[in-house]
Amino acid sequence: MVLNCLEVEVAGLKFRNPVLLAAGILGMTAESLIRVAEAGAGGLVTKSIGLKPRKGYPNPTVVQVSCGLINAMGLPNPGIKTFSEEIREVKRRVKVPLIVSVYGYSAEEFAETAELAVKAGADAVELNVSCPHVEGTGGEIGQNPELLKEVVSKVKRRISKPIFVKLSPNVTDIAQLAETAVKAGADAITAINTVRAMKIDIKTGRPILANRIGGLSGPAIKPIAVRCIYEIYERVRVPIFGCGGILNWRDAIELILAGASAVQIGTAIAVKDLEVFRTIPKGIEKYIRRKGFRSVKEIVGLSHRL
Ligand code: FUM
Repeated sequence: MVLNCLEVEVAGLKFRNPVLLAAGILGMTAESLIRVAEAGAGGLVTKSIGLKPRKGYPNPTVVQVSCGLINAMGLPNPGIKTFSEEIREVKRRVKVPLIVSVYGYSAEEFAETAELAVKAGADAVELNVSCPHVEGTGGEIGQNPELLKEVVSKVKRRISKPIFVKLSPNVTDIAQLAETAVKAGADAITAINTVRAMKIDIKTGRPILANRIGGLSGPAIKPIAVRCIYEIYERVRVPIFGCGGILNWRDAIELILAGASAVQIGTAIAVKDLEVFRTIPKGIEKYIRRKGFRSVKEIVGLSHRL
């Protein structure tokens, strides 16, 4: 029997391979999520969804820089009631785990949104406590241990599905915040969200993004992601979803060696295409076999043991 060396179980969910779609890209409609699953993703994370619809910022919301992308979309989304139909459609048509990213302006809003997502069929929720540029939510919650604890514990009391907490690198001690989230009930940590950044047009002298400040993703932030995952792995005993700057299988392996049980891909889809969901798992599999391991699980956090 040929064993699938890529299969992983994280927080009780089975993934056919450890390469998931990250929140923020192609995650707003059932059709795009299904396309990503059909391209080979091991799991899907939706765009962040709130209790009520939100328009987001005016354009421009994304700008390319030499080392990645800076975005400030402003959490545009149709609200969980409308989005529930997309969740049901994805669950009807594909078998891979569906994780709904949720945000809120209070612990109660996070909990209500998470509850409705689970009711519609979400296999887990990922709490966005790390968006770096929307007032009153995201990083303002995740960077404050008291608020973080309140949000995670309230969601924990309300849903029976796994809770992943997506943390911001824009902090002094990310491992400390991971510990706070885990003590409050997080079943896994996702690290990292984008790094606060901006770009100025030297012809006009003006910031390019309508919101002026956005979040940097892509290759520039990969070393930051590796360091954050490494530190979190040393501090907590729950699995980590590694996210940040993965463009190819080598990048994915690096995050796994630092401690990620699975990885999430975002910017690579924009700069390459959905092909990454075939090439990255394939590259990971070849590496595992070449190195004489039987499964991806054996290399999770390996750099801590060498
Ligand atoms: O602007 C946005 O929708 C980004 C969200 C995030 O970075 O979490």
